[in-house]
Amino acid sequence: MADALQKVALVTGANQGLGLALVRALCSALGMGSTVYLAARDMGRGEAACALLQREGLSPALIQLDIADAASVSAAADEIKARHGGIDIVIQNAAARITRETPQTDQVARFVDTNNHGTLRIIEAFVPLLRDNARFIVVASSFGSLRHLDPRLHARFDSPGLTLDDIEHAMDDFAAATRAGSAREAGWPDWINVPSKIGQVASVRVLARDRSEEFRRRGILVNAACPGLVDTEASRPWFADMSKAATPDEAARDLVWLATLPAGSEEPYGVLVRHRKPYPWT
Ligand SMILES: NC(=O)c1ccc[n+]([C@@H]2O[C@H](COP(=O)([O-])OP(=O)(O)OC[C@H]3O[C@@H](n4cnc5c(N)ncnc54)[C@H](OP(=O)(O)O)[C@@H]3O)[C@@H](O)[C@H]2O)c1
Repeated sequence: MADALQKVALVTGANQGLGLALVRALCSALGMGSTVYLAARDMGRGEAACALLQREGLSPALIQLDIADAASVSAAADEIKARHGGIDIVIQNAAARITRETPQTDQVARFVDTNNHGTLRIIEAFVPLLRDNARFIVVASSFGSLRHLDPRLHARFDSPGLTLDDIEHAMDDFAAATRAGSAREAGWPDWINVPSKIGQVASVRVLARDRSEEFRRRGILVNAACPGLVDTEASRPWFADMSKAATPDEAARDLVWLATLPAGSEEPYGVLVRHRKPYPWT
């Protein structure tokens, strides 16, 4: 669908926070005739979010999608394939939160299963649907840089023959070490979001590397993105001062820029992008 006017886009975890703002901005940017799927794991919350956008004059399409549930992910991909034959924009934005009330050792398994294995589920289900000139984005963070990881662990996320499955194994080892209390000794950071975001960026890099010849030929751009600090229910409990945080609508602008780069764009490709520029991996 080379630069066609009518696009099909999907944003996961879109019933609130940054995801909702991404749907709002994509509905405005893509305009009439395009379909922007607001994906939500809970249909009630999804319907409420769609109703909010409809009151603003926008027309998102609701789809059920729980990234922690393989059947839900493949059902959503099947539905979009049946309706449209393919997809132009995928933004894997959904993520589990870290809460203060529970020790991170008790949260890590679900966190990794959602944010990392969930990202792989989205890659496996939606990459086969990508049309020519598609844009595939994983919302990560500037935590997703090897600069935040002990050098002993770098090869788990960056080596010549690394596969997507290797990264999932690294994430499972990280979760097991965290639960066992041996993570720090092995070099893993205490804040579980750091290895998780490194894992997401590493997956994007491996996907871009493995499919480089085909994706370059077909004009497909695959990237991770850092939205910067965004004022959402997920971030607010962790910062006393949110005055420097962007609103979700402000943060969505750079990501929608990345998602709507015109056909013929060759960069950025296979990197973490922050404020429209590549962010260092090492
Ligand atoms: N906020 C920041 O400062 C910041 C900074 C850097 C990166 N990020 C990244 O930006 C993204 C969005 O963050 P946010 O602050 O908007 O978070 P948020 O307010 O917690 O929103 C997360 C969304 O993901 C959904 N979700 C959670 N588990 C899911 C699952 N298993 N399947 C499908 N959807 C699921 C949530 O749905 P429910 O409503 O059903 O729970 C919610 O809609 C995340 O990837 C986050 O790591 C955020």
